[in-house]
Amino acid sequence: EETVAGCPLCPLCASRSRTVFGVGRRDADILVVGEAPGAEEDRQGEPFVGRAGQLLDNMLRALGYSREQVFIANMLKCRPPRNRDPEASEVAACWPYLDRQIELVAPQVILAVGRIAAQSLLATDRPLRTLRQGSHQLPTRDVPVVVSYHPAYLLRSPQDKAKAWQDLRRLRGHLKPAMPEEEA
Ligand code: URA
Repeated sequence: EETVAGCPLCPLCASRSRTVFGVGRRDADILVVGEAPGAEEDRQGEPFVGRAGQLLDNMLRALGYSREQVFIANMLKCRPPRNRDPEASEVAACWPYLDRQIELVAPQVILAVGRIAAQSLLATDRPLRTLRQGSHQLPTRDVPVVVSYHPAYLLRSPQDKAKAWQDLRRLRGHLKPAMPEEEA
């Protein structure tokens, strides 16, 4: 986290207010991966804190998880100017940080929200429409990846929320059942 905070590896370091490392349980079952910090995230240093973040929280709650119980990160740790799409070189420079987060958190499943996160994680240019179908495996690690819509898209297109719910149910299929409570 300290290394990320001082990262000079791509030009976004010059325009960021602060890095957005990620938040949540360091041993979470679910790792959510978004695209990149927006203006509010750049100000606060925390991912998904705007309206899209509230919707993401609701989606997680529908699965029985609070924001604190998962880990939330982005492909990029720094905000691209005017929220433009990340450049391939920025994704490549930032990838080792996310890869290490995946290794350390060792989640049971990754939820990739939006086209950029899904295509970058899975090293593909297939459209979101097809990536949402079925589940995937990270190319580099033995972790299943479920792809869904970005919550900012769902704010604009609420008619697709039912499809996002199907994605979340697919995600739930990758979670191990919780251990039964120990008897007193
Ligand atoms: N959108 C993202 O992809 N990530 C954030 O952290 C906020 C908005």
